Formats: sequence, C-alpha cells, structure tokens
Amino acid sequence: MADKAKPTDFDWNDLGFAYHDLPYRYRAYYKDGKWSDGGLETDSYMRVSEAAQSFHYGQEIFEGAKAYRRKDGGVNLFRPNMNAQRMNRSADRLLMPHFPEDKFIDAMKQVVKANQEFVPPYGTGATLYLRPFFFGTTPMVGVHAASDYTFEIFATPVGAYYKGGLAPTAYVTGSLDRAAHAGTGRAKAAGNYASSLLPGDEAHKAGFSDVVYLDPRLHENIEELGSANFFGITKDGKFQTPKSPSILPSITKYSLLALAPEFGLIPEETTISINDIDRFAEVGAMGTAAVISPVGSITHQGKKHVFYSETKVGPYTQKLYDRLTGIQFGDEPAPEGWIYDV
Ligand code: PLP
Ligand code: COI
Repeated sequence: MADKAKPTDFDWNDLGFAYHDLPYRYRAYYKDGKWSDGGLETDSYMRVSEAAQSFHYGQEIFEGAKAYRRKDGGVNLFRPNMNAQRMNRSADRLLMPHFPEDKFIDAMKQVVKANQEFVPPYGTGATLYLRPFFFGTTPMVGVHAASDYTFEIFATPVGAYYKGGLAPTAYVTGSLDRAAHAGTGRAKAAGNYASSLLPGDEAHKAGFSDVVYLDPRLHENIEELGSANFFGITKDGKFQTPKSPSILPSITKYSLLALAPEFGLIPEETTISINDIDRFAEVGAMGTAAVISPVGSITHQGKKHVFYSETKVGPYTQKLYDRLTGIQFGDEPAPEGWIYDV
C-alpha cells in the first residue's frame, strides 16, 4: 500500500490537481434505513462487494468543495450548505437516501481539522479540495436501487485545475453529449463524467483545453464548459449564464450571479445560442475546481471566435475573480451565510 502523504511532500506554490492519500477521511454507512454515527478513518482503501450496486448500475454521486487558509491562519469553507443540498437533490434523481445537511457540514469540518497541516498556506492560492461522495454497496445483479450506502469525504491539496490559472485557454464544441435533456445532467452523478471522457479526450488531442457542451436536443445552445459552468459578459454589460435542465447547478455560478451587480453587470440566466457568441466581450468557465478560468476562444464548426484579447484576462473577469477569491480566503466581507469558519 502506498505511503500516506506528509506536509513536507508538497511545494504549495506548485500544486497540480491530484489525489494524495491524507491521514484522515470521514465515513458513514447507511443500513436498515438509517445512517451510522459516522467518523474519521485512516484507511483510504475500502472493502466492497464485487456485486456492489454502484459498480454495475452507477448509484454514485459526489460533490466538490474547498477549504481556504485565511491570512489570520484560520480556515474557511465556502457555502458547504449548498453542497449538502445539491447532493440531496442528486440523491433524489438517483433514488438514494438523503444525508442530513448538519451532519454533512460537521463532517466537512472534521476532515479539514484532522488534516489541517495539509491546508495550503495563505497567499499561495492553493486550497484543500474536499470530495464528498456517496455510493450504493448492496450486492445485486438485478437493476434496483441499493439499500446500503457508504458516504465519505476525503481531502487533497490542490492548485489550479486548468494549467495557466488566469491565462485564457481555447475551447471547442463537439458532437457528443455529457447528459440527456431529462437525464442526470442536473445531478452530480459519476456517469455524467464517464460520458464526458471521450469528448474531453478528443478536445485535448486537438489542442484545446476542454469541450463546450451544447444542449442534447438541438445542439445549438451552450450548456457547460468541461466540468464547469459557462458565463459570458455581453458588450452591453450583462453577466449571462445558460438556463437548462441538463447542466449542473453550480454554486460558483449562483455566487457570481449574486456578485455581478456590484460591478454594474446585469445578471441573467438565459438561453445562449452558439451562433450568437460574438456578442460576448469576455467568456469564462466557473466552478469550484475551475474557480474562474477565462476562455480566450471557442472554435465551432471550424470557425474560431475570440474573446477579449484572447491571451489576457478581461477586466470584468478579473474583478469577479478578485471578489470571489477575496471572499473565499476571508480578505473581503462576504454576503450573509456564505462563509463557515472551521
Ligand atoms: N458543471 C460541472 C459539470 C461540474 O462538474 C462542476 C463542478 O462541480 C460545475 C459545473 C461547477 O459547480 P460548482 O461551482 O458547484 O463547483
Ligand atoms: C469541482 O469543481 O468541484 C468538480 O467537481 C469538477 C471536477 C474536478 C470534476
């Protein structure tokens, strides 16, 4: 078995987005209609039946959140209640039980505290990524919902998800979908990510940073950018992001919709046709992992559409990034209820 990570293993200023086996994770078990008390465990490996529901029929949902080291040495969580609520909406779609919100937030704090030496120092921009996940373990061969589940939260220190951080990158549309119109796109279900692997690989091989997913019915309207939501700043000052039943309701998106008016931008969730993207002065990807990653260009049907200068981050994107990360790292006042002290 691989060795556990040690704090001295890391160069905090040069972290990728990778898994490291930290000392502690939280686990709780669902059996006979109720959750176990749950607690910290040290073994990163699990013993699960070969016939576990999730291996065959995919009852697996997850979340992504980060712990942020503040200047005063404390640690912030950003809207973990939203992760808990979204996980329970994902659970509804996959016919899984709910995990209580207060227990979820408490578990997040326990994992951060137990692994606190791995929360990267303030000023490096790096964070401790938290990965709650939850899957069916009942052995079965018929297609049914499991009756037994494991819930876990592990943590791993991370830097930028897209290489280059705030340097804009190039995206491309493709012909494959990540989710169906009335399927599981709104849920953070593992299967959506499995179906994104091939289109992602095609985009990477063609030299792009990721895929612009179009809506699965018409292949006309923008849905998502890889594993992040899309935003565009129109030339007349609107912050627009797609409205669709098959995209993941991003916590970063709802946060930026709320912050946009501070910069004079009108927030709007609306249909965004791929044929009408030249009205955007700036475009970006937003998500927990992606934070705000500027998009320099989108290539659609062989035609390249460039945003801002293609190589430099635009002024509104920079302002939104500074405000969002300022709140997350505790440098700026946050809207009521957004920050949880660990
Ligand atoms: N869209 C997809 C497909 C994602 O995987 C994520 C990541 O969680 C997001 C959007 C962004 O969501 P959030 O801002 O809640 O991290
Ligand atoms: C996140 O932003 O937290 C994600 O889950 C995206 C990706 C790492 C799957």
